[in-house]
Formats: sequence, C-alpha cells, structure tokens
Amino acid sequence: MLTVDNLKDLKGKKVYVRVDFNVPQKNGVIRDNNRIVAALPTIKKLLEGDSRLILMSHLGKIKWKEPDPAKIEEMKKANDMAPVAKALAELLPGVNVHFCPVTHGEELKKAVEELKDGEILLVQNTRYEKGEEKNNEELAKEWASLADVYVMDAFGSAHRAHASTVGVPTAMKAEGKPVALGYLMLKEVENLSRCVEPSEKDRPYVAVLGGFKVSDKIKVIDSLLKKCDKILIGGAMAYTFKKALGENVGSSPVEDDQLDYAKKCYEEAKGRLLLPIDSVVTNHFDETPDRDIKTVTGDIPDGYEGCDIGPKTAEMYKNELKKAHLVFWNGPMGVFEQKDFQAGTIAICEAIRAIKGEAFTVCGGGDSASAVKQFGYKDDFSHVSTGGGASLEMIENDGHLPGVDVLR
Ligand code: 3PG
Repeated sequence: MLTVDNLKDLKGKKVYVRVDFNVPQKNGVIRDNNRIVAALPTIKKLLEGDSRLILMSHLGKIKWKEPDPAKIEEMKKANDMAPVAKALAELLPGVNVHFCPVTHGEELKKAVEELKDGEILLVQNTRYEKGEEKNNEELAKEWASLADVYVMDAFGSAHRAHASTVGVPTAMKAEGKPVALGYLMLKEVENLSRCVEPSEKDRPYVAVLGGFKVSDKIKVIDSLLKKCDKILIGGAMAYTFKKALGENVGSSPVEDDQLDYAKKCYEEAKGRLLLPIDSVVTNHFDETPDRDIKTVTGDIPDGYEGCDIGPKTAEMYKNELKKAHLVFWNGPMGVFEQKDFQAGTIAICEAIRAIKGEAFTVCGGGDSASAVKQFGYKDDFSHVSTGGGASLEMIENDGHLPGVDVLR
C-alpha cells in the first residue's frame, strides 16, 4: 500500500483526503477537537507539496428513514460542517481554508476549480447525501472525478463501506489514480495490529471491556477470547453476564435476549473472563439530592441498579493489569459522566499509569478515550485510538477494515 510519503510531484494536484471530523459538537460549539488535531500531520505534509486539498468527512447522523422532510432539514442543520471549517482554520494559521456548503453539483465543482496551490476546501457533511451510506456508485464517481489523488486518513470511519470511504477509492483506482494511507491511519493500524496479533512477548494480554450492551460487543468478545489471556468486564454489560449466572442484579440494565450467549461465553472462557464482584449501586439514576448510593458485594438489591464496579473489583482488575504486557481497553467501567460513578474507570486509568513503560497499552476510542482524556491519563497510554467502532471491528475482523482493504 502507498502512504503519503510515497506521493511525489504533488504541486497543483487535487488531493481528496477522507478525514474523520465527526467531532462532538452542539449548536456549532466543538467539545473536543482531538480528531481534527490528529489529522493535521497528513494535511501539513500534503500542503508542503503545494497540492490542493479537498477534505471530506461525515458529521453526526442523518436518519434518511425519517418521513418528514422538515425533520431531515433539522438533522442537517444540527450537523452542519461549517463550524469544523472554522476550527480547522484556527489550527492552521496562514493557510486558506475554504468551505463548500454543498456536497454535489456545479457549486462543488466550481469551488474545487477555484482552489489554489496550498489551499484547503472542506466540503459539507458527506451524509447530506442519501447515497453516502449506501455507497452509491454515481455519487462516488462524482466525488472521485474532483481529484487526482486519494488519501485515506479517517481511521474512525474505516469500518464503514460508504461512498466517501470505499466508493471513491474504488472509482479512483479504476481511473488509474494513486490511492494512499495518511499518517493517522498508519499509526492506528500499526498500534492496533499488535492487539490483533499479539506476539509471545505481549503475554499476558489483558482486555478490559465495558460499555452498555453485550450485543454490541459479542463479536469482539468472541475474537478477544481467542487472542487474550484475560478479559475484564465492567460497565452495564457486566449485569447481563451476572444475571446469566443466576445473580440478582436489581433493576440494572440487562439484555434478556443475550443471557444464553453470556452464560455460554462465560463457561467457555474457563476462568479467563472476569466479572465484577462488587458494584456501586443507586436507587435513582438521575442526580437527585436524596438518592441513595452504596457499594454492594454480590447480589444487587431490588430497586437498585449497578452504575460502576466496586472497590474490590477495581483492586482485582488492577492486580490483573499489573501483570499484563499488552492491554486493549474499550468501554468505561461505569457511568463516568457522573462523579459518584467515576472511580472504576479512574482505577483502570491508574492501573495503566502504573505499568507505563512496561506494557503496550491501547485505549480503543469511543467513550473510554473521552474518559481517559477527561481524567488526564492520555499520555499514560501507548496509544489512544481516534476510532471506537473501527478499533473494535479491526479486532473482530482480524485486522481487516473495508476502508483499508480497498487500498490494497
Ligand atoms: C465514529 O465516531 O465512531 C466514527 O466517526 C463513525 O461514525 P458513525 O458510527 O456515525 O458511522
């Protein structure tokens, strides 16, 4: 596969760069610009070559099944890419960053034609097009026709076989145009590959899995059971496992249709899948002043729900992590957005800090990456991924991602 370093004579060339600028934002205020910052090395490298950059990304979700056109318009408005162009311009002083408010047709073509060497055009949200998520061929061909070179640097979207991530490089390859990986992609693929194919020196390999649903993580649990020495389970998904093993979980969220899978999975793991032995529970999820919060070992009383792993579990998980040489972590241990339920997630961060320099530690994006950043532990990890879904899918599919495979 080509990388941006292999691309020569870029002066005046139009380069389509698929970035992942799907940043958390509300009303145009960006809460975390990490993904924009992470794409800068590739952008700067391409600008050094005096190319003309056409940046494409999705932002949020547009539910095209919605029958009311006014609601579709509202969703579009809520996911307008214009504020991202502003944020990008602020990170690149001295560079002209233009914004094209449309995703197809003459206005887009004209905006690309007007681009000068060393300038950037950020195009409106790719999901403004109904054909994007369907990998519509016509749409992909139109976008592909705008550029001379394709660069993929959107790791967070590499598990999506959409027009902007798979259709465009397919069309550009067919036209004999070069396709390459950017620096962010290279770093992500290299670091996550270690979690996909651990070597002997990576043993013990410990995975920490949290988050809400077992059903979201079934494939990754199956895959990690083949690769890891231990899997430490936290988050709401732990309660589906605990119920499946006959424990009382009170009113904790449980996926009843996953109980058989959870039981089978636990039994087949033969002691390699660890579950919380105690939990921090509450009778009221909302932060009301009179709610009761307590730590319980084993069964959770009726009327209470588990919101974090308890201190005994945190200690048990810390001891496992102390021995690890390779760690993959995806999903917080509790409702870390609330102060009362942060301790479990912070305990995992502390355990990672304690093995810094001795183990290779990967935080697989999503909410756990937000937590790691929020609590100030980002620099303690060997790698914090920019893609939650993509890193899980890379592990599930033994290193394969549609947005990468298409470039091979
Ligand atoms: C992400 O945030 O995980 C990626 O940008 C992919 O977004 P999606 O789940 O909306 O496709």
